[in-house]
Amino acid sequence: MQVLCMHVKMKSFLLIFFVVTLFQFVVPTYTAADKAEEPSATISYTLWLNPDITKQESLNITAPNGTSFYEVMQLAASLNPNFAFQAREYPGMGHYIFKLAGQEEDLVNNIYWMIFKLTDLPDPTNPPSDDFLTPVGVDSIFINDKDIYLFWYKYVIFE
Ligand SMILES: *[C@@H]1O[C@H](CO)[C@@H](O)[C@H](O)[C@H]1NC(C)=O
Ligand SMILES: *[C@@H]1O[C@H](CO)[C@@H](O)[C@H](O)[C@H]1NC(C)=O
Repeated sequence: MQVLCMHVKMKSFLLIFFVVTLFQFVVPTYTAADKAEEPSATISYTLWLNPDITKQESLNITAPNGTSFYEVMQLAASLNPNFAFQAREYPGMGHYIFKLAGQEEDLVNNIYWMIFKLTDLPDPTNPPSDDFLTPVGVDSIFINDKDIYLFWYKYVIFE
């Protein structure tokens, strides 16, 4: 009786061991295969460096589909120092960009870095309306192929 009982216990131990071992081998392989198939997204990222739009910087950047715009900004800064930025992090709100391309927000004159998501490449002769401002912060914007983003150092009129 005791021997049989041991035998059953041993059997279930072996079964659990087998399943755990199988799991450890299968899961990493699956994840690796998944990563390899991850689609990439190429987006356009432009800076308008003053309210009057006389200076701009633009680049196309490729990253995995669904990367946050905050991470894209970090990548852009590493590729081109003109895209270097500084942010403050607020709990629950994420990163707030207060300095970009050497230009810091100007609280006295109400000039802030405002991010727009556009449907066409930005055109200084036809600036976007506030309808194109992104409703969420840079941590909550997730890129998709062919997206067009614009950060504009812009006068903001508070009503
Ligand atoms: C980005 O790609 C678009 C479309 O291919 C092209 O028209 C544009 O000139 C590129 N911009 C830069 C800064 O390379
Ligand atoms: C990219 O991600 C978005 C969701 O963020 C999804 O709707 C879209 O289908 C994805 N594109 C590709 C090519 O997988």
